[in-house]
Amino acid sequence: MSILITGGAGFIGSHTCVEFLNAGYDIVVLDNYSNSSPKSLDRVSEITGKKFPFYNCDIRDRAGLDKIFEKENIEAVIHFAGLKAVGESCRKPLEYYENNIGGTVNLLECMRDHGCKKIVFSSSATVYGSENKCPFKEDMKVGGTTNPYGTTKLYIETILKDLYTSDNEWSVVLLRYFNPIGAHESGKIGEAPNGIPNNLMPYISQVAIGKRDHLSVFGNNYPTPDGTGVRDYIHVVDLAIGHLKAVPVLFKQTGVEVFNLGTGKGVSVLELVHAFEEATGVKIPYEIVDPRPGDIAYCYADASKALNVLGWKAERDIYKMCEDTWRWQKNNPNGYDD
Ligand code: NAD
Ligand code: WQD
Repeated sequence: MSILITGGAGFIGSHTCVEFLNAGYDIVVLDNYSNSSPKSLDRVSEITGKKFPFYNCDIRDRAGLDKIFEKENIEAVIHFAGLKAVGESCRKPLEYYENNIGGTVNLLECMRDHGCKKIVFSSSATVYGSENKCPFKEDMKVGGTTNPYGTTKLYIETILKDLYTSDNEWSVVLLRYFNPIGAHESGKIGEAPNGIPNNLMPYISQVAIGKRDHLSVFGNNYPTPDGTGVRDYIHVVDLAIGHLKAVPVLFKQTGVEVFNLGTGKGVSVLELVHAFEEATGVKIPYEIVDPRPGDIAYCYADASKALNVLGWKAERDIYKMCEDTWRWQKNNPNGYDD
């Protein structure tokens, strides 16, 4: 019996493959490599010393999915596959709705038709919108997303809840990630954005390696201790282990369970810059610019439910996140193209 990991060649997916293989699970990976490289999966095998089947397949391709479900004995799915760039989603909303929502509906139909009704879905803290006060808790009202990407997460959560209501055999775990950064400590896998990074940590590490000359800090007038935006950065390996802890829930019960995966600690933009400098010894020149539209001042988790129910908590601190990001970036200045 295997776990299917969609989007398994991506940043979070590849780290999750490592943790599942190390824990002794059989995995099957599916990815269309639209934002990743199959080389990440070779590296997963190098790190773990294990081989596993992987398929170049799009979640929107029903015939392709059917073949995988017919060939492999899949009992649960961890569903990472999706497009994730906030700015791009504002320019190309239809592509985001079609890929993320259309693709997920196609995957769910295929799962249902093959009698596989267990799924972990990659949701996001973005579903808490801009009205809730931090720390965000799983039972807060969700909605008010400010971009199509965030709306795809909100709608897919709703679709999965409706699916369970219609058929109580489904078991669904919604994991709401905060801000994943860091890399595997081997330095062999990590985040490899295409073009100019949208997110803070990849931008900092590209400044450190000399690809960009300075960081633009988006606003220093927020009502936060140093005026810059506060986020809950979580090491990607901790996040991957969160999935490992969530999977038994699928086998224990049916229903829909929601968990925040964050550290519960807020870190400002400038705190992250300084932690990176301290952890790596590399100076990060920066300039304060206007705030980025749609950003909120604070975003951090109440992570107590994951601790109480799953026995999971994030173990790796902000320095470890910076050290591991830097090792990955130094060893692979051009990501998987090196
Ligand atoms: P990623 O882009 O590195 O990984 C996503 C993978 O999905 C990529 O390998 C991509 O090629 C693949 N993919 C995209 N569309 C596909 C399709 N139609 N069929 C098959 N494969 C497809 O992103 P990530 O950071 O690893 O994120 C994984 C998941 O977690 C995504 O669903 C993302 O929205 C969600 N998430 C990410 C963050 C974050 O900050 N990284 C935060 C919250 C939630
Ligand atoms: C973090 C902080 C910026 C870049 C996004 C998505 C969210 C989730 C995670 C998927 C903010 C500041 C950033 C830069 C900066 N993704 N910043 N200069 O916006 O919290 O979350 O990724 O689900 O949905 O919205 O992450 O890394 O872009 O920004 O000053 O060049 O860094 O203003 O305060 P964000 P981020």
